[in-house]
Amino acid sequence: MSWHGTDAEPRLHIVTGKGGTGKTTVAAALATALAGEGRRVLLVETEERQGISQVLDVAPLGTQETEVSTGLDGGEVWGLSIVAGAALVEYLRLFYRLGRAGDLLHRMGAIEFATTIAPGVRDVLIGGKVYESVRRTASGRAPGSRRGRHLGEPPAYDAVVLDAPPTGRVGRFLDVTGQLADLARVGPIRNQADAIRQLLHSGTTVVHLVTLLEQLPVQETLDAAAELETDRLRIGTLVVNQTPDASVREDVEVVAAGETDPARLAERLESVGIRTSPAMIEGLVQTAAEAVTRRDLEATLEDAVVGAGRPVLTLPHLPEGVGPDAVRRLAAELAAQGVAP
Ligand SMILES: Nc1ncnc2c1ncn2[C@@H]1O[C@H](COP(=O)(O)OP(=O)(O)O)[C@@H](O)[C@H]1O
Ligand SMILES: [Mg+2]
Repeated sequence: MSWHGTDAEPRLHIVTGKGGTGKTTVAAALATALAGEGRRVLLVETEERQGISQVLDVAPLGTQETEVSTGLDGGEVWGLSIVAGAALVEYLRLFYRLGRAGDLLHRMGAIEFATTIAPGVRDVLIGGKVYESVRRTASGRAPGSRRGRHLGEPPAYDAVVLDAPPTGRVGRFLDVTGQLADLARVGPIRNQADAIRQLLHSGTTVVHLVTLLEQLPVQETLDAAAELETDRLRIGTLVVNQTPDASVREDVEVVAAGETDPARLAERLESVGIRTSPAMIEGLVQTAAEAVTRRDLEATLEDAVVGAGRPVLTLPHLPEGVGPDAVRRLAAELAAQGVAP
């Protein structure tokens, strides 16, 4: 079994999770791991969140694709920020040959206005740009053109990784047609939504869920996985981020094995020259007991995540924080756990 659990090779990886669990970090690491030798991966964020540029320590991403990093094996990672207004201008250019009139629309603020009153349209525009970047061929032909894919040309990107909205909003974000139900029953926007829907529900797309080993994120992850599966979206992996370092785990095991007898603890500390007080020993014993309780809770939560029946990837908490080097370390972890281009 391949790491994504099916034989079809997914090319669109949607990364979601509860806010703050590490979606952006994991999306960057996943893109880096997928960018094997000679491969190009596009890392996408939406609506000017600008998390990716911080994590990779590059200039803020724009609405034009730029190379932002190299992959683990020397491939290329490109970055793109998708903004609904810019996507609309591009869409109008492409389909209505609006040319510079599109720029004028943009400057007049008409687009911001239009997308504010119809959030469903906003998501279709963002989804449309994702769709285009997944389907584009190496020579840059537009999706749907009679040439391009039909000639068996390779895609422009071997994979597209989307740093998606958090679990609380991702269902709506991905339900492009449901949101449009009352807005556009026919017409080009409707067709666009149907095409995006088809892509999202095809073997090309998987959704990865990032969680921490904490009660709320795990619950939210399991709920989201069930909901997405009900909506017939394919869950790729569950990523358990920020797990305690192996050395911390070992220390907790030592404590759990019974090294918390107050008298023994005091004796051992004194033997290495540390002066103890009863209050200090009491504090240490309590801290140790809490660590053991947390370890037990984490084990229960880990079982619950595994119980969801999808491949689980585990990433360590990096005490130095997240930057370009950390992203590479996490990418190497993903690769070691079977994430391959
Ligand atoms: N594996 C990790 N080790 C250490 N810090 C991490 C790790 N993953 C994420 N973080 C930190 O946690 C915070 C949230 O991560 P981020 O990727 O921005 O989450 P999200 O996109 O879900 O809001 C950031 O400060 C990030 O640097
Ligand atoms: Mg983020």
